[in-house]
Parts: sequence; structure tokens; C-alpha cells
Amino acid sequence: MTDANSGQMGAGQTDSGQIDNVLIEDRLFLPPAEFTKKAVFSTQQQYEEMYERAKNEPDGFWKEEAEEHLHWFEPFGEVCQWNARHVQWFVGGKTNASYNCLDRNIDAGRGDRTAIIWEGEPGDERTLTYNELRHEVCKCAAGLKQLGVSAGDVVSIYMPMTPELAIAMLACARIGAIHSVIFAGFSAESIADRNNDANAKLMITADGLYRRGKVLPLKQTVDEALAKSPTVEHCLVLRRVNDESVSMTEPRDVWWHDVVDPQSGELAATPLDSEAPLFILYTSGSTGKPKGILHTTAGYNLWAKRTFEWVFDHRDDDIYWCTADCGWITGHSYIVYGPLSAGATCLMYEGAPNYPAEDRFWDLVEKHKVTILYTAPTAVRAFIKWGDQHVDKHDLSSLRLLGSVGEGINPEAWMWYHKKIGAERCPIVDTWWQTETGGIMMSPLPGITATKPGSCTRPLPGVVPIIVDETGSEVHDHHGGMLCIDKPWPGMLRGIWGDEQRFIQQYWASVPGKYLTGDNARRDKDGYYWIMGRIDDVINVSGHRLSTIEVESALVSHEAVCEAAVVGRPDELKGQAIAAFVSVRDREPNDELRQELLMHVRKQIGALAQPDDLRFTATLPKTRSGKIMRRLLRDIASGKEIAGDTSTLEDLSVLAKLREEES
Ligand code: WT7
Repeated sequence: MTDANSGQMGAGQTDSGQIDNVLIEDRLFLPPAEFTKKAVFSTQQQYEEMYERAKNEPDGFWKEEAEEHLHWFEPFGEVCQWNARHVQWFVGGKTNASYNCLDRNIDAGRGDRTAIIWEGEPGDERTLTYNELRHEVCKCAAGLKQLGVSAGDVVSIYMPMTPELAIAMLACARIGAIHSVIFAGFSAESIADRNNDANAKLMITADGLYRRGKVLPLKQTVDEALAKSPTVEHCLVLRRVNDESVSMTEPRDVWWHDVVDPQSGELAATPLDSEAPLFILYTSGSTGKPKGILHTTAGYNLWAKRTFEWVFDHRDDDIYWCTADCGWITGHSYIVYGPLSAGATCLMYEGAPNYPAEDRFWDLVEKHKVTILYTAPTAVRAFIKWGDQHVDKHDLSSLRLLGSVGEGINPEAWMWYHKKIGAERCPIVDTWWQTETGGIMMSPLPGITATKPGSCTRPLPGVVPIIVDETGSEVHDHHGGMLCIDKPWPGMLRGIWGDEQRFIQQYWASVPGKYLTGDNARRDKDGYYWIMGRIDDVINVSGHRLSTIEVESALVSHEAVCEAAVVGRPDELKGQAIAAFVSVRDREPNDELRQELLMHVRKQIGALAQPDDLRFTATLPKTRSGKIMRRLLRDIASGKEIAGDTSTLEDLSVLAKLREEES
């Protein structure tokens, strides 16, 4: 393989370590020597040795890792029990993720280190040391207990990006309650679905949240959801926006300041089984209903910590900022569990990147001297569009490492990120992973990996990827195929909450014994992986997963809709945009109905699922067996098939028939 240490890269190297090459995918960017010198991984050999050991002697490798990096109330016996589908890690051991994030650091004399630097959208600021964070977590945990929550109960969290969101997650972890964080952009229907699927006992929310200077009434949405959530006994409400009009239904609803604030700041973490559920996180699959991905305590915690330390090359003097929301897996693993277990200092920001102006992120980087920035390609594309002047106003010289997650980063955005934000000085780690994998699976290691724009490069220790064809046989390099993971790793999902059949069907049925990621990929001559998009009907909008069927179901639930088909089309900013084709009955297919349907989807799922285009059509193109011809619709949606602006597509069925006859 070609890398920084192979000595092959002398000629043609520029100051920034760039190798200019004619073929875009062969452009190589070497880690700056300064970076490599102090890096966690500083030689290729170190990586190769660790990778081989984790692959060939996983029990020995992970035993040492777990003993060194987690606190054990009781030691584990067997390291990994694997039956080609279900896995248990660190069998019989007892630990606690909140203890690992807080007490373990405090016990090591790091209690006065800053854990969280928080900035609200209006500009309010708070910092919490590890001591202070533990104090708040203990108070919240005691409050949860007072509200009747105990180990094994599910707590739904629907909150703004305030420190209390992380505090609530860690408070659940402290007492063995299972958190289910629901991104604060989801609708009342979506919240109720999740509450009911998980039998949530408690809901935690806030009076509202700030977004682009406006207040969004979170509690109002939750009230609507709770009317349909019979299992929820109490709702704990944080005062964030001082909305006096919030209605509190007694005795169900209680204020955070009444229940949590008076508690003592001491509460010992409960020793929990390694495999005790830590959280459920709902994500879209290829069918309509979101699936509750289950992660458990020890394996997930270890994976989040170690991948954080490896990929972000964490050092004591770093100020680390992950711009994700805790409502997604990125926030779980790389705002809360990974960095806090590693004793990092994390910046947490509540609001929009363009409020009060388009330079807010760069203002934050400059003000807080951020050294590591982890964001998404969709954000990078927005920054490019907003213009360099917003970046130029600020001193970004504190930055030393940049990260990307959520979708592949297109080479153009990669180059801008590298030049404009990284000043050609900061390595970029393009991290490939999923809600299901718990943490990063493939990524450059910033001190040693020569990066290629658009590739997530190579697997981390413990990850054994394999690319297979439809028959399950491994494909050769350069050939695309289905990306699977061959061996269990500590952070892997343990199941889909309450749906064993779907778990098997989704991940284990197509290629027996191997975890099916749902992504297509290919490997190049250097052993680098290139992700080529999804196999299934899942689309990726602004780095968030949405199932086309989910949006279709929402549309069809409207009385005027007979049939709906939803596809993704390329979008400059969001990666993919949502295009809907709808046939209606008893109503004029006009603009008014279009608006009504868009609002309907917002109400059913949330603003993030609202289609960008909605076209009316008399019939949908289908194959003889009745399958909607999505490929055709995708072409039409991306403007490939039909020129000009066609808002109704009566000729769609004709087109489809023509297509069918061709094949
Ligand atoms: C899907 C997972 C991982 C946290 C955020 C999204 C796509 C994610 C990359 C990347 C190419 C990527 C994949 C994956 N994806 N990161 N670096 N390069 N594709 O989590 O909602 O579970 O979505 O996002 O398609 O399967 P998620």
C-alpha cells in the first residue's frame, strides 16, 4: 500500500503534502510531518500490527483493551460469545457507562478539567468540569428515580442541544435506564410511534428550543404525542426559552427545576451487566417503520472511546467540537460517550450554523480555539455556497484536524474543506460508519494515512470488511459489491428493539454469518474503500437516513392520495433531495393540494422528511409484476428523462411501458 511511511512519495510532493496527479481519485494527501510526530498512531507498522492482532487474536486484544479502558465493578469472563448473528462481549462483567465517562476521569485526578463548553444559539455560555457534570448527572439520576424510573425502563428524550440533553442521557446510563433520544425535529406522530414501540415510561423535554432566532414549541409537540403514548407516566420539562404559555398537565408533567434541582449531587453509579441495554436509537430502514437499534453497555462504550481516541488523535490540550445533534448516533458516540470516556474537552453548540450570520461556526472555532472539528459534508457544501468571506473574517489557526461523517464527501467539497478550513495543514478524516455499528468503522488515521478525497480509506483495528456479490462470494478489487462485516466488533448493534425477525431479515439473511451494511462499496489497489451508496430504498438527506417507503406511507395516509412513490435525486446541498410522485382521487391536483400534502408529511414524520418536489401523476410506472419502476422515477426526478418543467406526468405510464418493452 502507498502511505506516508512507505517512502514512495518523494517526487512531486508540495508543501502541503499533496501529490498532484491526473486522476482525481489518485490524488494523495500525506499527513504533515509535524502531525505525525505527536500522533497516537505515528507509524504504519503500529497500525498494521494492531490490525493483525485484533483480527487474528481478537479475544486477547479486546481483553486488554477492555481492562485498560473501562472501569470494572466485577471482571468479565469470556471476551466474546458469537453465534454468527448474536454477540455478547465481556460476558458477566459489570461496568457503567456514566461511571466510565465521569467517575473514572475524576478518580484519575481530572475532575477539574472542562468536560463541556456549551454555547446557546442566543450566545449564552456555560462550562462544566467533570466534577460539575457528575454533580448534575447525579441530580438528574436521583430525579429520574423519584419519578419511578428504574433499571431497564425506557426514557424518551426530546430536547434542544443543551447540556441537560447530555446530562439526561448520562443520568439514564447511571441508573441502568435505557434512553431513546428522539431528534427535536421529529413530529408528534413520530414521537408517539417511538414511545409506543419502546414502551417508554418517562419523557424528557423542554418548553422550547431556539432555532434561527425563533422559538420552536417543543412541549406543545410533546403534548400532542403524549395524548397517544399511554405508557408514558411522567414528562420532565426543562425550562429553556421561558415560554410562559406552556401548559403543564398535572400530575403527569413536572418541571426539571422542581424535580432535579433540589436533589443531592451524589448518587453512586449502578454496576450493570456488560450486555445491559444502554440505549435505543430509531433509524430508518428499507420499510416504513423506523427500527429501534439497540446498543448495550460495555462493548459500545469501549468502541466509542477507542475509536474516538484513534481517529481524532485525542490529546489533553485539544478542544474538540462535533457539530452533530445528540438526536443522531454521531451525537451519542462522538459528543457524549466517546469523548467523555476519553476525558476530552468538548464544545457543544445549540443552534443553526447561519445564525445570527453565516460565520457562526467560524466564530465558535475562533472564540473557543477549537482544535478538532467534526462535521458533515452537507454543512461543508452550505459553507461553500455561503461564500469564503464568512470564513475569511476569522482566525482558524487553532484547528489541527478535520472530520467528516454522514455521507461520502465529494472531492470538490473535500478540497474546499482542506484548503479553506484546514489551510492545507489539517488532515481530514472521512469516517464511514452507521447507527448500527455504534462507532467509526473505516477512517484514515490522521498521523499515518495518506488520504484520497472521497475515500474513507481503511478499516480500524477490529473491523474486517468484505465486499461480496449477490451469491455471497467475495468480489475482486475495483469491483463494486455489497459491503459486509465479517467478524463481530464490540460496538455492533445487539438487535432491533422488539423485532427479532426484522433484525435477522435486515442484516443476516442475505449473506449468512456476515453483517450486511446496506451500502455498496469497492476496494482499490491500495486497499482503500470507496462507499458507493445504498443497496436498498434508503436515501441520505443532509447526512440523515430516510426510508423512501416511510415518506410514501405518510403520503398515502392522506385521504386524497391513492398511490405515492418517493425517490432520491441528487442535490447540491443536501446530497439527496426527496422527490415524490403522487396520484390522487376526488381532489384537483393543484398547488393547494401540493402544499397540503407537504404539510401532511411534516406532521407525520417531521420537517426533515418533507419532499422537495412533489409531482402529480395519473398512474405510477410499474413493471408487469406490479413493482414501481424506481429507476425510471429516479431518472425523471433528476431531470434525465424529461426536459422542461412537467408538473403532471400523464405520460409516465407510457414511458414505463416503452421501457419495459425495451428490456
Ligand atoms: C449511512 C449510515 C454514521 C453516522 C451518521 C449517519 C452513509 C455515513 C459515510 C461516509 C459514505 C457514509 C452510509 C451509511 N454514510 N458516513 N463517511 N462515506 N457514506 O448514520 O443515519 O446510520 O447512516 O450513512 O450510507 O450506511 P446513519
